[in-house]
Amino acid sequence: MKSVLAASTALMVAAPAFAEPAAEVLHWWTSGSEAKSIAVLQEEFKENGGTWTDMPVAGGGGDAAMTALRARVLSGNAPTAVQLKGPAIQEWYEETGLADISAVAEENGWADVLPDAIADHMKCEGKWCAAPVNVHRVNWIWGNKQILDEQGIEMPTTWDEFNAAAETLKEAGITPLAHGGQAWQDATVFETVVLGLGGPEFYKAALIDLDPEALKSDRMKEVFDEMRILRGYVDDNFSGRDWNLATAMVMNGEAAFQIMGDWAKGEFLAADKVPGTDFVCAPTPGDGYLYNVDSFAFFEVDGQDKQDGQALLAKLIMGPNFQKVFNLNKGSIPARTDVALDDFDDCAKASYDDMQADSADGSLLPSYAHGMALRGAQAGAITDVVTAHFNSDMSSEDAVQQLADAVAASM
Ligand code: GAL
Repeated sequence: MKSVLAASTALMVAAPAFAEPAAEVLHWWTSGSEAKSIAVLQEEFKENGGTWTDMPVAGGGGDAAMTALRARVLSGNAPTAVQLKGPAIQEWYEETGLADISAVAEENGWADVLPDAIADHMKCEGKWCAAPVNVHRVNWIWGNKQILDEQGIEMPTTWDEFNAAAETLKEAGITPLAHGGQAWQDATVFETVVLGLGGPEFYKAALIDLDPEALKSDRMKEVFDEMRILRGYVDDNFSGRDWNLATAMVMNGEAAFQIMGDWAKGEFLAADKVPGTDFVCAPTPGDGYLYNVDSFAFFEVDGQDKQDGQALLAKLIMGPNFQKVFNLNKGSIPARTDVALDDFDDCAKASYDDMQADSADGSLLPSYAHGMALRGAQAGAITDVVTAHFNSDMSSEDAVQQLADAVAASM
C-alpha cells in the first residue's frame, strides 16, 4: 500500500511536466481552401500530442480577426497563438510584448532557410517573435480560360490592354471583373494599379515612404482614373461580396477576371480546377512583386501547457513538410527556401522565379493592402480614401488631396 501511495504521489508531482501542449489559435482562414490549409497545422499539432482550440474569425484579409484580437487582449485574455503579420507584429510587441521564440528558431536553424527580408519581419528587437508560413504574391490576375479563348483575349500586360479586353467582354455581355466590395479588396486592386502604372519606385515612394509629393502626384491621379474605369467593370452586386465568392464567379464562368492574391488559386485548386486548362494566372500589368507573408505570433501567457503549445506550434509551422503541404493547399509558396517545388503548379513556380528576380533588382515590395508595408494607422488612412473613392463619384483630384491629407493626419 505504502509503495502504491508513494508512486501515485510521485506521479502527481511529476504531472505538470507531462501536461499536453495546448494552444488556442486565432486566425481568419475560413474559406474552403483556407480551412483546408490550417487543418494541416491542426492535424500535425494533434499528432504531436497537442490540444488545439480553434478560434476562427471569418472575414478575408483579417480585419474582423484583428478586432477580435484587440478585444481579447483588452480583456486580459490573449489567445496563445495569433495569425499576425507585417509591422503589426512589432506594434503588438511594443504594446503588450510577445513571447520570445528564439530558442525554437535557433534550434531549428531558421536563419539558414529564410530570406533575410522575411526573417526581418519575424523579429522584435533582434529576437524571433513570429513564425512565417508562406509567401503569397498579391499582384495577380486570374482569368477564366474558356471565356478568354472564346473572346480571343490574351492575358493583359498593360492596363490599357486590360481595359480593352474588359470592353470586349462587356460587349459580349460578360462581367469583366469579379470583385468583392470590401475595403481590403478595393485596397488590393488599388495597390496593383499603383505598382503597375507607377512602377516599383513610385510604389515605394507612395505606399512605403508615404512621400506627400507621390501621394498627390499626377501619377496617383492616373491611378484613381484607372480605379474609376475598373469600377465600371464590376457587376451590380459587388458590394460586400467575399473574395472567395468573387473567385467562384471566375470559376463558374460568371466573370472573366479577378485581381487577387494567390490565395484565390487555393480556391481554384480546392475545386479541382487546373491552371492553364481551366484558369490562367498572370501578374497584374507592370513590373514588380508585391509580397504578403502570413505568420503566427504568440502572446506571453502563463501555464507550461500553453508555453509548450507555443513552442510546438512554432516548430511545426516552420517544418519542411508542413510548409509544403500547407502551401500546396493555400496557393502560396513556402517561406523556407529549401522546400522543393516539384509538386507545385506553374503559377507557384512562376511566383518563386519572379520573387528571386525581383528581389535581385529591388522590385520585391511589401503589400500595403495586406499589412506588410505600413503600420495600421497609415494603412487604414489610405484604404479609407481608396474605398470612399471607389464607392462614390469622387474625382481623382479630390482623391489624391484626401489621400495626402489622410496620411498626414495619421502620422
Ligand atoms: C490575406 C492573407 C491570406 C488570405 C487572404 C484572404 O491577408 O494573407 O492568407 O487568405 O487574406 O483571407
